[in-house]
Amino acid sequence: QHPVWLDMDPGHDDALALLAALATLPVRGLSTVAGNQTVDKTFLNARRVLHAAGREIPVAPGYDRPLFRPLVTAGEIHGASGLEGYTFSPLEPVDAPHGLQLMADAFRESPEPIDIIATGPQTNVAAFLIGFPQWRSRIASVTFMGGSLNGGNVTPTAEFNIFVDPDAAHYVVQSGIPTRMVGLDVTHQALLHPGQLTRFLTLRPPLGEMLYGLFSFFGRHEPNAGADGMPIHDVLSVAALIHPEFFRWMKTPLGVERQDGERLGQTIPASSGPPIEVAVDIDTERFFAWLWQSLSAYQID
Ligand code: BDR
Ligand code: CA
Repeated sequence: QHPVWLDMDPGHDDALALLAALATLPVRGLSTVAGNQTVDKTFLNARRVLHAAGREIPVAPGYDRPLFRPLVTAGEIHGASGLEGYTFSPLEPVDAPHGLQLMADAFRESPEPIDIIATGPQTNVAAFLIGFPQWRSRIASVTFMGGSLNGGNVTPTAEFNIFVDPDAAHYVVQSGIPTRMVGLDVTHQALLHPGQLTRFLTLRPPLGEMLYGLFSFFGRHEPNAGADGMPIHDVLSVAALIHPEFFRWMKTPLGVERQDGERLGQTIPASSGPPIEVAVDIDTERFFAWLWQSLSAYQID
């Protein structure tokens, strides 16, 4: 397994993805992006989750808005802080470099290629490709949560991460870098049932109470959550990097709709361009077995 760089906008499901990644992958660092909330909030939230996990990795805020568009956030889903549902103890403010400088440092220092997992709008990833072309050949792969071939969650056709920065997503899927898309086609299949939330309480403090509180809130606000459970989108991209065999993949060039209008942010198979791997089906049983097993790293001993 290559070292991994995370780019996230925590965000409830990003927080879970971060914990799962820390437990299962050699994570070199984390940049945050504006998406679910403003970048100052997603940075603070990333620090909160790292602090709760007792892990210190390089972390810094990246871009505060999409490449060419005003920022749209998801406050109605993730709340005013971006991580509503749990009261975090206060953290001292820190001076952090730009997230992309940290990312460049990670590539400079790594003798091995690096896998990128992106669970927010792809602004930072696209900007990194543009601003640091010398490291492009050292990106082993990009696995992103976003997109959908069958209907959206922010509009009838668009998924949130792509809708927020379609230009960045277009740039990434056109880059020719080995790319996997983990979108709503699979995240809407792998629902976390509300009856499972108490399982979080077996994790050590404060993680157990934290995840229990966060996902109790998320289950009430995620638009596609219901009696059967809630989608936990971002953590599926972590599983996809480690266990692509949990998924069925379709290899296709991907178009991203960038014209303003009702299809803005839609992802559609295209007839030309570099092919990427799109997750179209998931073995939910194996995925959940992996998730709980991964989280058991945080079990009370
Ligand atoms: C995606 O949008 C965000 O609200 C979630 O964190 C996830 O990355 C799901 O559409
Ligand atoms: Ca996210």
